[in-house]
Amino acid sequence: MSDRRRFEGRSVFITGAGSGIGEATAHAFAEEGAKVTIAELDPAKGEAVRDAIRAKGGTAIFVATDATDEASVKAAIAAANEAHGPIAHAFNNIGMSRPGSIEEMSLEDWNWTIGISLTSTFLAMKYEIPVMKANGGGTIVNTASMAARLYTPSAPCSYAAAKAGVIHLSHHASCAYADDNIRVNAVLPGLTATPQIASMFTAEEQAEIAGENQVIRRAVDPREIANAVLFLSSDDASMITGRGIEVSGGRRHAS
Ligand SMILES: NC(=O)c1ccc[n+]([C@@H]2O[C@H](COP(=O)([O-])OP(=O)(O)OC[C@H]3O[C@@H](n4cnc5c(N)ncnc54)[C@H](O)[C@@H]3O)[C@@H](O)[C@H]2O)c1
Repeated sequence: MSDRRRFEGRSVFITGAGSGIGEATAHAFAEEGAKVTIAELDPAKGEAVRDAIRAKGGTAIFVATDATDEASVKAAIAAANEAHGPIAHAFNNIGMSRPGSIEEMSLEDWNWTIGISLTSTFLAMKYEIPVMKANGGGTIVNTASMAARLYTPSAPCSYAAAKAGVIHLSHHASCAYADDNIRVNAVLPGLTATPQIASMFTAEEQAEIAGENQVIRRAVDPREIANAVLFLSSDDASMITGRGIEVSGGRRHAS
């Protein structure tokens, strides 16, 4: 746990904060004084994270949100502004995939993955940016993936393409809104030990995948992603924008 308070009193909005990387990041922001909005589809998960943050003396609300639905995202951001003041920092984090090679994948499954992993990021930024513009600026971190940069047999084509889109959408936004004092970056997790991953791979398979792709041969802890998100969101990263930051235990290629 950090003893710093870089986000004291700041309104922070996180999608998919009920589990895994989003949950760890919600805790990390709250521990540094932020007022956290947990925008999460599953009420049981969202309420549990809210209650855990409050039990530690932190400030959090849960807003039932489908981050792929425009009206739902718009309402969640309005609820965050209402409860905690205008959003100063956003972490647009949801993403998922359905399996299949290019030949096997149905158009429906392709569109589903693009919707949940890329369109959700566009939708969140569409409603976060006007709030930040009106309040003198802010920061956005979007969750991409190492699957956007390295071919991984376990990552479907739709997911790799969607997450590459997240990196480029972040870069585009960083250029378009730099003059509004809004910084936009992406984090690229390597294999991270979250429930989503536990449901897909055994512990042995996780170690094997990490060993194939990474220099540090273990899965990333969700808290290690959270640390990077907080850094990118903080004034410590005041000259970093439009970048995709790998949090993945390194890789053998230099570039
Ligand atoms: N875990 C990894 O190894 C890894 C690696 C690279 C990238 N990522 C990315 O990190 C992000 C988080 O992954 P995770 O492993 O922490 O997942 P997770 O399954 O642990 O958590 C995802 C959360 O999002 C919620 N959610 C699902 N659909 C939603 C919706 N429509 N609206 C709002 N909330 C919704 C789920 O209920 C869940 O609480 C994703 O974008 C994922 O693609 C993960």
